[in-house]
Amino acid sequence: MATTDTLPASDPVSFRRQADVLVVTIANPPVNALGVDVRRGLVAAIDAAEADGAVAAVLIVGAGRNFIAGADIREFGKPPLPPSLPEVCSRIENCSKPVLAAIHGAALGGGLEIALSAHYRLAVPSAKLGLPEVQLGLMPGSGGTQRAPRLVGVKAALDLMLSGRHAAAKEALALGLIDRLGEGADALPEGLAYAKELVSAKAPVRRTRDANALAEPETQRAALEAARAETAKKSRGLFSPMKIVEAVEAALTQPFDEGLALERKLFLQCIDSPQRAGLIHAFFAEREVLKAPETKAAKPRAIESCGIVGGGTMGAGIAVAMLDAGLPVTMIERDEPSLARGRAHVEKVYDGLIGKGRMTAEAKAAVMARFSASTAYDALADVDLVVEAVFEDMAVKKAVFAELDRVCKKGAVLATNTSYLDIDEIAASISRPADVLGLHFFSPANIMKLLEIVVPAKVGADVVATGFELAKKLKKTPVRAGVCDGFIGNRILAVYRQAADHMMEDGASPYQIDKAVRDFGYPMGPFQASDLAGGDIGWATRKRKAATRDPKARYVQIADRICERGWFGQKTGRGYYLYPEGARTGTPDPEVEAIIDAERRRAGVAPRRFSDEEIMRRYMAAMINEGANVVHQRIALRPLDVDVTFLYGYGFPRHRGGPMKYADTVGLAKVLADIREFAKEDPLFWQPSPLLVELVERGADFASLNQSE
Ligand code: COA
Repeated sequence: MATTDTLPASDPVSFRRQADVLVVTIANPPVNALGVDVRRGLVAAIDAAEADGAVAAVLIVGAGRNFIAGADIREFGKPPLPPSLPEVCSRIENCSKPVLAAIHGAALGGGLEIALSAHYRLAVPSAKLGLPEVQLGLMPGSGGTQRAPRLVGVKAALDLMLSGRHAAAKEALALGLIDRLGEGADALPEGLAYAKELVSAKAPVRRTRDANALAEPETQRAALEAARAETAKKSRGLFSPMKIVEAVEAALTQPFDEGLALERKLFLQCIDSPQRAGLIHAFFAEREVLKAPETKAAKPRAIESCGIVGGGTMGAGIAVAMLDAGLPVTMIERDEPSLARGRAHVEKVYDGLIGKGRMTAEAKAAVMARFSASTAYDALADVDLVVEAVFEDMAVKKAVFAELDRVCKKGAVLATNTSYLDIDEIAASISRPADVLGLHFFSPANIMKLLEIVVPAKVGADVVATGFELAKKLKKTPVRAGVCDGFIGNRILAVYRQAADHMMEDGASPYQIDKAVRDFGYPMGPFQASDLAGGDIGWATRKRKAATRDPKARYVQIADRICERGWFGQKTGRGYYLYPEGARTGTPDPEVEAIIDAERRRAGVAPRRFSDEEIMRRYMAAMINEGANVVHQRIALRPLDVDVTFLYGYGFPRHRGGPMKYADTVGLAKVLADIREFAKEDPLFWQPSPLLVELVERGADFASLNQSE
């Protein structure tokens, strides 16, 4: 058995007696996750405390920036190794000597469950406490659903578990989640002082399982039912939220140990769910995308000021994103009226916030003090980074870049927000191609999280790294993309949109397709999305591409017929749907259905019925196949980059992990078989991606290509 003198250096849990307090330190970088060695170490520490008569109390602290960030997420889905986390928690709670947790940084998930198993809790101001398992398709599985309600009541406990949010130390104190708020940054001295106080006061062990926040059963039951109703409404399609409610109900109705047993059973069901696999994939993927080769190879340039060329919707949205990040922004427009419009676009965003009570007029004034505007490019002479967001036309863009080349200081990053133009061509048109980068924002740019960092051939690695650094400042999720028409996202979108158009012409209504896509988990379907974005945008692209379109390729004209009537979607009151009196949710339009019928006749198509399941098979097969092409051609570094693009820019349901993860879940052989079947009708459109074919031949999946470069 371990003694209080044992201190193996490599052990992630070390313990040392300081006077009569056994200080147990968890040091398992990067975030002190509760891997098997930590679990073993904690049990050994409690054993040692019990065995050593000189120990009067135990203090648990975390080394580094956090207390404990939770269970080791990498262990989920693998065979469990003893001791389990519930066993560790019980061991701590059953300790015969007072155990104190002193918390700084993250005490999340299993980390908070460890703290809840301790008898006393202190947190310093840096602490963030939470039960975020729901975000990973899970639920607290080590007593959290039984201990938290007993400590803080059903309402507060369910709020934490169902939202997954982090509570700051002060709030945790008000909730009763902790007993004391420390003052300094360092939890160790504060914890030691508290532990010594507890020892001197002969404070008893105080087990959370015996806490009495559930004393008023009616209030608690009402809170539970309210949460159940809310969850049924809001968490449609998600598995774990209702399991959380069920487990907390057991805290109300069953003895502690039976509640624990039910919690375990439900937790294991969550572990086995594909949603857990999808959400955990998303968790790691959104961290992996940050590790582009250039971010490892080079240091970013400093960005302390920015310029925007163009004050349209996109330029203004980007300006707001930059202002929100605390950066000074200079906007350039061609004349005073355009400049006034650009400024008005920016102000409108802040006025909206003021209207909703989310910003004060003074705060707006402070932000706008960092905003300046000019019609002269020379105003950009000193900025560190410029984003060009003017009209999508190569000649116009080149003219802007010629000006930037003339006025910007040496070392300034010159970025274009183009969605499809050839950035290599833009870069080649000026004297400093190594400074030219693509920064593709998504509309509304101050809200949408995705930022495609488009890497032209001649760009410097430090410029690419600066793009990633900017994304961090703007709190965006960056994905590295190569140059091609549409980059990662819009290129794939163009293909599955065509698949949707084919189905519409073949017999599925846009309303059925939208519904099938929503039922899959998207917030809206492709035709609703088109109505929201404005049908004129896609129409302009189709006209631009008409000359180069393969005459043999199937081309559905329904969208053109709708656009020809000036029905561009929400902004014109009708598109695929009707939006009477500015309504934001559309209603189906019989006239659109008549247009579709007429187009089917014109194209000589005999309409047939589609099941929702077939709609999704085709929609996803098109998305996955083009996703594979994008990876094959190195436009996306790995399949996970495609996944993150779709999770953050296109509303792909997070619990499915992204299109490539979804493909792995379905099985690549099955996806390929679908594509080959669909190819019998339209071999030009349904050409299997060489990468998909190769992976199926090797019996491999997309996940096998996700290893970091
Ligand atoms: N298990 C395993 N690895 C974890 C982890 C966990 N619970 N939490 C974080 N990590 C890893 C990350 O993957 C990342 O690894 P990488 O450097 O190889 O990419 C590293 O720890 C740092 O995490 P990161 O999120 O980049 O650091 P941060 O300082 O921005 O945030 C946290 C720290 C703890 C707030 C954040 O990581 C987090 O929310 N973790 C998950 C907490 C959770 O859900 N716990 C419940 C588990 S059931």
